[in-house]
Amino acid sequence: MCGIVGILGRHEASPQILNALKRLEYRGYDSAGIATVNNGRLDRRRAVGKLINLSDLLVHEPLPGHSGIGHTRWATHGGPTVANAHPHRAGRVAVVHNGIIENFRALREELSADGVSFASDTDTETIVQLTSRFLDQGLTPVQAARAALKRLEGAFALAFLFEGEQDLIIAARRGSPLCIGHGDGEMYLGSDAIALADLTDRITYLEEGDWAIMSRAGVQIFDAEDQQTARPVNRINVEAARIDKSGHKHFMAKEMAEQPAVLKAALGQYSAADAQGIDLPEALDFKSVDRLLMVACGTAFYACQVAKYWFEKYAGLPVEIDIASEFRYRDPVLGPANMALFVSQSGETADTLAALRHVKPHVGQVVSVVNVPTSSIARESTVALPIHAGPEIGVASTKAFTAQLQVLALLALRAGRDRGRLSDEEFSSLLNELRSVPGYVAQALDREEEIRRMTESLAQARDVLFLGRGTMYPLALEGALKLKEISYIHAEAYAAGELKHGPIALIEQDLPIFIFAPFDALFEKTVSNMQEVMARQGNVFLVSDAKGLAEAGDVPNRLQMPTVPDLIAPIVYAVPAQLIAYHAALHRGTDVDQPRNLAKSVTVE
Ligand code: G6P
Repeated sequence: MCGIVGILGRHEASPQILNALKRLEYRGYDSAGIATVNNGRLDRRRAVGKLINLSDLLVHEPLPGHSGIGHTRWATHGGPTVANAHPHRAGRVAVVHNGIIENFRALREELSADGVSFASDTDTETIVQLTSRFLDQGLTPVQAARAALKRLEGAFALAFLFEGEQDLIIAARRGSPLCIGHGDGEMYLGSDAIALADLTDRITYLEEGDWAIMSRAGVQIFDAEDQQTARPVNRINVEAARIDKSGHKHFMAKEMAEQPAVLKAALGQYSAADAQGIDLPEALDFKSVDRLLMVACGTAFYACQVAKYWFEKYAGLPVEIDIASEFRYRDPVLGPANMALFVSQSGETADTLAALRHVKPHVGQVVSVVNVPTSSIARESTVALPIHAGPEIGVASTKAFTAQLQVLALLALRAGRDRGRLSDEEFSSLLNELRSVPGYVAQALDREEEIRRMTESLAQARDVLFLGRGTMYPLALEGALKLKEISYIHAEAYAAGELKHGPIALIEQDLPIFIFAPFDALFEKTVSNMQEVMARQGNVFLVSDAKGLAEAGDVPNRLQMPTVPDLIAPIVYAVPAQLIAYHAALHRGTDVDQPRNLAKSVTVE
């Protein structure tokens, strides 16, 4: 949520900052801005909306200078206006910020009482006003930034740039990720390593509470106690961090298409050398666990909801699932025999991270399933299991969801074997089913043209319903979420059996209703619910396999999925859930990769 960049370079900084911001635009696109220092003079350009608007502005009003900071914003305090866009500036200092300053009201009152007038509605402006006041009192830039940092409460990643200082950026990390890139006689700063992938492959991750003094010659890092400290320089795989659409119209299209390859490669990472087992860390102990708590947000939460069925069925393990923002504000009963499992694509979602920190002292094991192995959630877990999906740029999560499901299925099977619920034969046979996922996902993707045609009518729909039972219920939820996110069509999902307890009142002629129902033990029940809908003129779209479609009788719209084992059905049926939303969005002409109001990485509560 909000992306920040800093460059102390040897060339014009603005084009490089723009390029790095482009890679961070998935974090927010309400406004963007850059500040540079040129011949000692601090100046800035800001524009509302996507980065392209800032880019256009810079054509007419260039911003020279080899040192600069940049920002792409997801609005929290104050609407998306130029005045609220970063970098914020007061006197001789400019700041870009990701996060929230929780005590900004008190600071604003204090500064206003001192005669400071504010130019924006943001919490961030208090940081520049504070720093400027310290500069006016005679502190050096480093002292002033440090003094301001001490006054701030909340979560943030910050970069400070000063008038008259061509070789200085001060960076600080508390709660929001930040990394430093090392160049040859140049230094860089970014919200993540992807932002800097065109500039360097040498990255230092700042730790919680760190702040840093950057110059072209290097960086001095201090910990939360102001002690100078050393943080390692990591070599990152720049190729893996490169982002392009590879000929696809959208990142989302590319990421959906990548799923068979991603799932196959990821499974390879977890396959034991003998190909009979699962290579998961020995430290994972399912035998002594009395309860599994799974916590996540958004799509990752639906992955947990699917996994609950698996852990209960295959491992006999009691499971509780929670939305992170709810979990931490109730009083969950925790104990040393509990395992807490956090699922997050970014590994930085503020609510999930806060939930992790909340439970850590009280439970036996803290495990995470993440896409970014260097993320805060990964680093703060006792065992972190990467999903190996590669960078996901489309705001709507697709390949990360199926890759999360795959790792969660592996975990459930391992738990089943460790707890004696699965015999060796059952375990091997289920593992083989999992190995068939990439092929079936590819077959599901082959249905794209059919789905494109099927969803034409959705362009006019005001509401859409999704129904499912068992693991297809969270899939219905995911389908509705995807549709809302990228097509802005109001969509709701229900457990099919729950329909008659209220939502059935919504059904009227031609209301599109997607029903996910493979031919499994629950099929007959779901079909009964479908009949109830059709009796009320709902426009049913049945997504099932050959047997299911044959048994279902006369249904207005039907989509045939491959016939797959129960275990892997939710992974395969995720594909139509994604494609329905994608094509509905295309028919409506919405911005698929950057839907309004959303951000991919939500680092505020
Ligand atoms: C945002 C994204 C969703 C994502 C959710 C959780 O809302 O738009 O796609 O599912 O955050 O993110 P995480 O990185 O924790 O999986």
